[in-house]
Amino acid sequence: MKSQTIQEGKIQLKVPKGYKLDSKMPVFYNPIQVLNRDISILLLKSIDITERTLRVLDLLAASGARGLRIKKEVKKCDVTLNDYSKEACKLIKYNAKLNKVKVKTECKPANVLLSELNTWDYIDLDPFGTPVPFLDDAIKRISPHGIIGITATDTSALCGAAVKACLRKYGSKPLRNEFMHETAVRILIKKVQEVAAQYDTALTPIFSHSSNHYVRVYFQKANSAKKADEILKHHGYILYCPKCCYRKTSTNLLSESNKCKCNGKLEPIGPVWLGKLWDRALVKKMVQNINTEAEKKGKTITSIQTNKLIREIYEESAIPTVGFYDIHTLAKKNKWKQVPKMQDIFNKTKGTRTHFRLTGIRTKKINV
Ligand SMILES: C[S@@+](CC[C@H](N)C(=O)[O-])C[C@H]1O[C@@H](n2cnc3c(N)ncnc32)[C@H](O)[C@@H]1O
Repeated sequence: MKSQTIQEGKIQLKVPKGYKLDSKMPVFYNPIQVLNRDISILLLKSIDITERTLRVLDLLAASGARGLRIKKEVKKCDVTLNDYSKEACKLIKYNAKLNKVKVKTECKPANVLLSELNTWDYIDLDPFGTPVPFLDDAIKRISPHGIIGITATDTSALCGAAVKACLRKYGSKPLRNEFMHETAVRILIKKVQEVAAQYDTALTPIFSHSSNHYVRVYFQKANSAKKADEILKHHGYILYCPKCCYRKTSTNLLSESNKCKCNGKLEPIGPVWLGKLWDRALVKKMVQNINTEAEKKGKTITSIQTNKLIREIYEESAIPTVGFYDIHTLAKKNKWKQVPKMQDIFNKTKGTRTHFRLTGIRTKKINV
């Protein structure tokens, strides 16, 4: 394998060099996903879930980038890294030695490893495409109050380009519109919670984001049928009018008319999770854990993009609306002569930016 050694966070990594970035790489490594890995580090540093050593499973570890960073950068954790590719396991062991960290390596199909009776305080699920085939087994192995971080890269399904695939895999109808990336997150959350509810388990989303063609959600577990029932009460639909951008939520489609005030047709999206996407207190801690002194010197462990994203999400988590508006879409639909300045709109609507879209506004005040 042609390779190079790079630095990511506090570790050095030998990774493949000069290959096309896809699942056929000898061992998968995507430098852009550093943001995804940075966030898991910040989140684990910011959460109090156990007094004892944190038991971490990087289930689909590839080069070991995430699991090895967790071992090096998060205090007090035992880390197991797994990948069914022999070449990946060889590389994980090499990279562990390179960084002088002690971790356990497994080389098993994920579902075989998850059939063993261990539990983990943090499971990371970062597959190619959809995480659906791993959900049942992974959810059963999270310890009480433990966390699971889940990536989905099948955004064509979740964002509405492949509607049938979304219906098949997630049991939800997506829609391509200005807030489709948020819808994608809400569909993923709904699916994961439904699987968990079958085992009398409640999974509450504590952090979500959409970046670079993937969506990612972290959940905290509670073993409680009652809490699982509570979660399911927040599954419902978004009714959206493509003609005027009006939208509302509903937990009972049968009681809703499909006619919009503008005479357009309301399109149902869902079912989706209608609750909060972030635990704001946790996001605040994550912001506090960005070392601002190191940042001034351009030397934080997490990247500049990660730090910016976390701060942006902290702002937007103050306005927990379902969906947001897009200034260009509004201007086009309302035939405005000029697109207003974002700052003017924020002032008028007491709104915030949203990380889901550069020209998006999250506000409770706009009434289109
Ligand atoms: C997207 S990559 C993981 C990237 C990694 N988490 C990172 O941050 O660099 C997915 C990995 O899962 C492994 N994999 C896919 N299906 C698997 C399965 N059923 N069991 C175990 N490993 C699997 C692949 O070999 C690949 O290395």
